[in-house]
Amino acid sequence: MPCLVALPPMARPGRRPSTSVPSRGRALTALPCRCGRRHLIGASSAAALLPFLAPPSPAAPPIDPEVMLQRVHPSRPDWYEEFYATAMDQGMRSYEAEVAAYKAKLFSQLSAAGKNILELGVGTGPNLKYYASEDGVNVIGVDPNKHMENYARMAAVSAGLPSSSFTFKRGVAESLPAEDNSMDVVIGTLVLCSVNNTDMALREIKRVLKPDGLYLFIEHVAAPDGTLLQFVQGALDPVQQFVADGCHLTRKTGQNISDAGFSSLSLESVRLSNAYIISPHVYGVACK
Ligand SMILES: C[S@@+](CC[C@H](N)C(=O)[O-])C[C@H]1O[C@@H](n2cnc3c(N)ncnc32)[C@H](O)[C@@H]1O
Repeated sequence: MPCLVALPPMARPGRRPSTSVPSRGRALTALPCRCGRRHLIGASSAAALLPFLAPPSPAAPPIDPEVMLQRVHPSRPDWYEEFYATAMDQGMRSYEAEVAAYKAKLFSQLSAAGKNILELGVGTGPNLKYYASEDGVNVIGVDPNKHMENYARMAAVSAGLPSSSFTFKRGVAESLPAEDNSMDVVIGTLVLCSVNNTDMALREIKRVLKPDGLYLFIEHVAAPDGTLLQFVQGALDPVQQFVADGCHLTRKTGQNISDAGFSSLSLESVRLSNAYIISPHVYGVACK
């Protein structure tokens, strides 16, 4: 029986109604949660209920994380990586202020979820303050940009996480440096816009999660088809990729997450005023 997930309700100006992303064969069915956590509602996939309808494709042989890092994110010039890390540290403050309520809501899921957490594309560590103060938490922050490490470490310290409980690993989401079924929680915010292969990253997230492990995400996605904003995003996409280390404005990441075969998924959509060009966002929680 699949685990069920849900986000607590939040009344906030600017919030769009909950979006149920269309997904191949997904049934909006509420079932009890076998993991015993306090998830209230959720969606389970028909594929999870009737696995014979969607047999899993044979697993590809694993690719060594170091090899994958060089393949999908070879080192950029040092000055560029440093510039980008500094820009993320300094330039995201008003964004972080606006998104704080959504992050608080999202990370409130974590108190009962378990202690082994992997954050992919951890960047400068802006999420650590939301979850790293929990007793006994162990965090692996994965990022290909080595200049993120100092910022992430400082964020971990100010979040009250002992340095022995935070490990920074240089790596990519397409081959996560973690064992199968080893993580209680995987977190990713504003990362699937930047990875080389979204579906591969989602497969990796599922691989490293324990059964019933949770994937918490906030991602910016393409504006709806036919809107002016979608046109602008399409026009600016090449520039964005150049200045923001491969970040795409036009991905339909909510759809990828919905199609990734999680046993349950709660996904909402929101538009942010401080981040017009990277709006809307999808955020939510999925259970392996
Ligand atoms: C827009 S930043 C977001 C950082 C952080 N998660 C946040 O919310 O501020 C994107 C991050 O993804 C990292 N990144 C880029 N390609 C990646 C990949 N293939 N796998 C994992 N992380 C990647 C970048 O180095 C950067 O730190």
